[in-house]
Amino acid sequence: MIERTLSIVKPDGVAKNLIGEVVRRFEAAGLKVVALKMVRLDRGEAEGFYHVHRERPFFASLVAFMSSGPIVPMVLEGEDAIARVRTVMGSTDPAKAGAGTIRKDFASSIEKNIVHGSDGPATASFEIGYFFSALEIPPR
Ligand code: CMP
Repeated sequence: MIERTLSIVKPDGVAKNLIGEVVRRFEAAGLKVVALKMVRLDRGEAEGFYHVHRERPFFASLVAFMSSGPIVPMVLEGEDAIARVRTVMGSTDPAKAGAGTIRKDFASSIEKNIVHGSDGPATASFEIGYFFSALEIPPR
């Protein structure tokens, strides 16, 4: 099924000059970038994006990290896009990520893991809407 999902190049990925490399890997995997921008979240905006994790012990640190510098959210479209993006990213923890994945190759920790990808259709819908208005995304 053709899906859309949200990915983000996180502040560590932007700082390490990996925007192009992340986009290249997604495109090489058959995904199409249908929207993309650079933004900087404030604390409240980062808290809102990760609200499902608000009870986790790492929440405050995650919010501080995600609001520490510019990020590049993008909407990716393609066959099974949600799972495909997660395959290209690799496991959340880079120590557990497979060879050739973005996180294995570039992430420095389970928190500073370069890239985010939606984990399911409902999350993708919420996350796309968090960063992009209807006017910024081409109709399907
Ligand atoms: P992401 O895929 O964006 O989803 C939630 C984020 O929380 C995750 O990537 C990591 O950046 C961070 N995260 C998840 N688990 C942990 C953890 N155990 N310790 C610190 N940060 C974590």
